[in-house]
Amino acid sequence: MTIVLGIESTAHTFGVGIVSDEPPYILADARRQYVPEKGGILPREVAHFFSRVAGEVVGEALSQAGLRMGDVDAIAVALGPGMGPALRVGATVARALALHFRKPLVPVNHAVAHIEVARFTTGLEDPVALYVAGGNTTVVSFQGGRYRVFGETEDIALGNLLDTFAREVGIAPPYVVKGMHAVDICAEGGSFLEEALPYVVKGQDVSFSGLLTAVLKLYRKGYKLSDLCYTLREIAFSMVVEVTERCLAHTGKKAVTLTGGVAANKVLNEKMDSMARLHGAIYKPVDVKYSGDNGVMIAITGLAAYKAGVTIDPRRAFIRQRWRIDEVDLPWYPWMPGR
Ligand SMILES: Nc1ncnc2c1ncn2[C@@H]1O[C@H](COP(=O)(O)OP(=O)(O)OP(=O)(O)O)[C@@H](O)[C@H]1O
Ligand SMILES: [Mg+2]
Repeated sequence: MTIVLGIESTAHTFGVGIVSDEPPYILADARRQYVPEKGGILPREVAHFFSRVAGEVVGEALSQAGLRMGDVDAIAVALGPGMGPALRVGATVARALALHFRKPLVPVNHAVAHIEVARFTTGLEDPVALYVAGGNTTVVSFQGGRYRVFGETEDIALGNLLDTFAREVGIAPPYVVKGMHAVDICAEGGSFLEEALPYVVKGQDVSFSGLLTAVLKLYRKGYKLSDLCYTLREIAFSMVVEVTERCLAHTGKKAVTLTGGVAANKVLNEKMDSMARLHGAIYKPVDVKYSGDNGVMIAITGLAAYKAGVTIDPRRAFIRQRWRIDEVDLPWYPWMPGR
């Protein structure tokens, strides 16, 4: 049996997950999320929060799993992409644990981990994946040893679009209440506005900043907020589903998944499901427990990578703030625990 402890600290969540390659696979999932009182998140404040909670989150994960550090075979850590100060905390903790307990260290790309946890929880072996979160909007699929990017945002990410709009019109934070985004709550009873709003799909890429500006302009003109939320959501979701559909048609794959924080969204799930049906493909989103940032996704990816021989010298385990998903070799693909 191989046991891996994974550390996530790329954005707002400090997470520690412990997994093994034998059932029940997931042994621990401990996390703390930094929630600003108002406004966006400041990297330095996040890092300060992470360094305060890191020790207790590691301890909590070990006690959930009923293990000691000695029982762990390897430490995995998300080295990027993400915010420098936040990443540095996770990397420092991981390096210290690896050196002190003489454990191998496994570098994990956060974006790859969002896809791998979707493959793990859905059982889909080789899907097209739409990854939508606070900092990413990317359509990928495996080809030639890596996840290849079939489309991405040219500016802001889908989660960021929803969060920024909600914040600007004063309906957030909190951005998500009981699994629903503030924009969804506000869209109830709203209807689609016929005004021409920018639906921007250029080739395979999307752009949301023009849409954000246009909808905010209508808000200032006094348009009904529920209609604006409804319309914004409708346009933005249709854009990402269109790009995913093209990737599915191009690759001829028979499965589609949805992952990242925005994967918790019910309306987006419905749109993805009907698109997949049209193509006779299976659609399954990531288990919603693991859609947002967490340590389990880092541990699962770390386990797959470790078993394929991927490790890094702790003294060379530098963070990579702009580490792209298509720069990562996946020698374990399509292996996942349980298969
Ligand atoms: N039910 C929901 N509907 C829509 N968006 C949601 C929902 N739940 C969470 N989100 C969004 O998910 C995003 C957070 O995703 P995640 O936890 O993966 O964060 P991230 O790490 O900031 O992003 P990235 O993976 O790009 O670095 C936020 O923008 C949040 O508003
Ligand atoms: Mg994320």
